[in-house]
Amino acid sequence: MRMQDKSVIVTGGASGIGLASVERCLQEGANVVIADLENSGGQARATELNGKHQGRCVFQAVDVTDTAQVDRLFADTVAELGSVDAVFNNAGIGGTCAADELEDDEYLRIIDINLNGVFRVARAALQVMYRQGSGSIVNCASILGVFGQTGTAAYTAAKGGVVNMTRTLAIEAAKKGVRVNAIGPGYIDTPLLAALDQELLDGLISLHPIGRLGRAEEIANAFLFLASDEASFVTGAHLLVDGGFTAGKS
Ligand code: NAI
Repeated sequence: MRMQDKSVIVTGGASGIGLASVERCLQEGANVVIADLENSGGQARATELNGKHQGRCVFQAVDVTDTAQVDRLFADTVAELGSVDAVFNNAGIGGTCAADELEDDEYLRIIDINLNGVFRVARAALQVMYRQGSGSIVNCASILGVFGQTGTAAYTAAKGGVVNMTRTLAIEAAKKGVRVNAIGPGYIDTPLLAALDQELLDGLISLHPIGRLGRAEEIANAFLFLASDEASFVTGAHLLVDGGFTAGKS
């Protein structure tokens, strides 16, 4: 068991990559908090998963745009589970709009969830983990943190910010027993892509040399590695899990 008795928080844990990561950690013996929006179905997911594995699975309603809710998540987790050993800072939204038509509200909403939300969660995690003298934070970035793509000005700004913020947090935390890394998924078959039509999806698939979309479990495995002691000398990394997308054209 690679996460025996560890306490893990997964933001955006009710769906897609987050949910797969919750299950993977439960399989490896962890107690896991699904931290997601009130109406995300997170309570139902936690109820389904609780009892299936040795570790506990609980839900806490959290909006990562709300600092008080994020701080409460960490205080409640410490009170309930005794520690926070690993965090997957995974909550995020998509959104496609040409930059010249992108309104302030939509731009700011994407930044507030995908970048500022990651900061709020990381800050709260660091405060707890510094007191413990241990912990692992994994931020969910994207191939779009290192590549541009038409219609994704806000999303790429946020994800690029996550990649580089991860490096700074890693350096600050390095001597305090806390590691901070990012994962850069390629396109992954989750509800986030549900709005895309087949033609667009086929185009995206063709950009991955492996020739398919990724599976949520494949990102969950990367999270598990970075969260666990197996990655004890890995910090400040942006681990691309992208079917070769960023390696070049085939
Ligand atoms: P998803 O849509 O299946 O899951 C996202 C989860 O985040 C949902 O459960 C949602 O309720 C939650 N969420 C949204 N706003 C929130 C908020 N303000 N507070 C708390 N929770 C909130 O999406 P998916 O694909 O699992 O995405 C997870 C992460 O992976 C995101 O950060 C996304 O940007 C990133 N990613 C996804 C890729 C993909 O192709 N699916 C590719 C690269 C990165």
